[in-house]
Amino acid sequence: MTADPQAPAAEAPTVPVLSAAGLHVRFRGHGGRGTARAVDGVDLDVHAGEIVALVGESGCGKTTLARTLLGLEKASEGRVEFEGAPLRYRSKALKAYRRRVQLVLQDPSGSLNPRHTVYEAVAEGLRIHEGAAPDEEARVAAALARAGLRPPERFFLRYPHELSGGQRQRVVIAGALVLDPEVIVADEPVASLDASVRGEILALLLRLRDDLGLSALVVTHDLGLAWNIADRVAVMYLGRIVEVGTVEEVLSAPRHPYTRALLSVLPEADAGDPVILSGEPPDPTVIPAGCRFHVRCPVLASGEAERAGVADRCRTEDPGVLPAGRGTHAACHWARVRAESAG
Ligand SMILES: Nc1ncnc2c1ncn2[C@@H]1O[C@H](COP(=O)(O)OP(=O)(O)OP(=O)(O)O)[C@@H](O)[C@H]1O
Ligand SMILES: [Mg+2]
Repeated sequence: MTADPQAPAAEAPTVPVLSAAGLHVRFRGHGGRGTARAVDGVDLDVHAGEIVALVGESGCGKTTLARTLLGLEKASEGRVEFEGAPLRYRSKALKAYRRRVQLVLQDPSGSLNPRHTVYEAVAEGLRIHEGAAPDEEARVAAALARAGLRPPERFFLRYPHELSGGQRQRVVIAGALVLDPEVIVADEPVASLDASVRGEILALLLRLRDDLGLSALVVTHDLGLAWNIADRVAVMYLGRIVEVGTVEEVLSAPRHPYTRALLSVLPEADAGDPVILSGEPPDPTVIPAGCRFHVRCPVLASGEAERAGVADRCRTEDPGVLPAGRGTHAACHWARVRAESAG
């Protein structure tokens, strides 16, 4: 195999641009409920120029992890690192950080103020961070153009209701780009868009990665979307990452039964019959002992784990936190035993 000079060596000691290290985020119980362990031990790196998709069902902790990486939520344990240095929560440090790591929300969840023009919406972040910059207009125009709204001047005085859904999402992205961030954290950036527009926004994110070397953490329910955009995928279940690796490995040869179940219900999947997960929907106030997925695991329920000799471990032994680096890993006793007997 010849080395690709563009590709970082598998174990190259590059400092990730953004990391979660031993991250836990707990929410104190309210309404008689116990403490929710929304993020329950996560190690995850995002490298420069890399798009990482964070996938998993509703309530598994994706938004909480994303908000914590942005410094909007404070870790109960562990830390967030930016370019190798721990994030500091003093207001000045946090403000500087928020410029370099930008949040992109999906539009109709109210990220655009209906009474602000496109120009004002994009200039807002610039004004917060720099006051009245002399080159404000040129930078707003450049950000709009980069987000694919051309010619930008034509959009300056428009209001959100005069734009299509895809155009509004581009305005939100331009608002992030105007500050020249290193990382974008996008929470469900296309969930509410039509399929055709979705593809355009994803193509835009890919172009930003290629042209600007931007890194992104893209939170999504949608594995198909992850397949189209991400370099790596992290699959989250009940506050933990249960499988992580390159898109090719995780989505075409999933190891964790949870990833397999998620993939099996995709219409385009060629993964045999859909696996309907049994058991209670996961609740972060009562995380099962052993493997947190064991109560819903089809491999345990079918007796396969028993035959592989791991059923007891599934019920009693936590498979642990996956490492943050670039390798492909699954937090599953059964998958590990299979990998050992195959290798
Ligand atoms: N501020 C909060 N206070 C209490 N509990 C919270 C808070 N924020 C989130 N949670 C709980 O933490 C868990 C994870 O929520 P989170 O919003 O991170 O999930 P998610 O994966 O983003 O879900 P979705 O796909 O529906 O957006 C949920 O059980 C949620 O109820
Ligand atoms: Mg969410």
